[in-house]
Amino acid sequence: MRASNLRLGVNIDHVATIRNARGGRFPDPVRAAKLAAQAGADGITAHLREDRRHISDEDIARLSAEIDRPLNLEMAATDEMLAIALRHKPHAACLVPEKREERTTEGGLDVIRFRDQLRPYVEKLNAAGIRVSIFIEPAPAALDTARALGAPVVELHTGSYCEAYLEDPAGARVRRELQRIVDAAAHAESIGLECHAGHGLTFDTVTPVAAIPTIAELNIGHFLVGEAIFSGLDSAIRRMRALMDKARAAAVGGASG
Ligand code: PXP
Repeated sequence: MRASNLRLGVNIDHVATIRNARGGRFPDPVRAAKLAAQAGADGITAHLREDRRHISDEDIARLSAEIDRPLNLEMAATDEMLAIALRHKPHAACLVPEKREERTTEGGLDVIRFRDQLRPYVEKLNAAGIRVSIFIEPAPAALDTARALGAPVVELHTGSYCEAYLEDPAGARVRRELQRIVDAAAHAESIGLECHAGHGLTFDTVTPVAAIPTIAELNIGHFLVGEAIFSGLDSAIRRMRALMDKARAAAVGGASG
């Protein structure tokens, strides 16, 4: 479905990374989440990793209790994470790889290889009313498998596109990687999946992805937290939001009018 409104999920993991570098309580990722909401985030994304290297269990409890935006919990497909998701009932859960062997060569969850292991997690999250997405490479076979597993949403991994841009912004590889995302978003629509995207997006790379009218949500974190060092988190999020909105308005307006 074409969406005139593109949602922004702000990932606050790396606020916790900075906090954890010292231990203690500062900077507080929940404060960052509240500020992100004021700056234009439609949702907050947080990845509770098995090793708790950034977000903690307490962060998830506080985010669930204190923020007034939908929480998207990124999680490995493990019994421990499933129990946490079922306890807090976030709006959404995104199944992501954590171990090297769970990834495709590019970085999304190797949904084809792990389909049988993933199935019960998708089923239980669906049954609990938590909107499930699977973080995959922009490849048709991966999308088909996510759909066969019963996930209503896929999140396309934009890492290869962003890496290609850093290598050579005008190079053929960027065009190729972007085309894979465009094609995958069209395929998602054709098989009835809601399509999200994220990983590695910056002010320089967000526009062409935001212009893909069938993408409903972008999840962006690391760059925004880094940019906050220079301009503040509020300003960084507002600028990202403005770039996304401009790209989407041009794409949708251009198509309909
Ligand atoms: N989407 C998913 C599924 C992710 O795992 C991540 C990284 O945690 C992101 C989006 C955000 O990526 P970045 O922090 O590079 O913006």
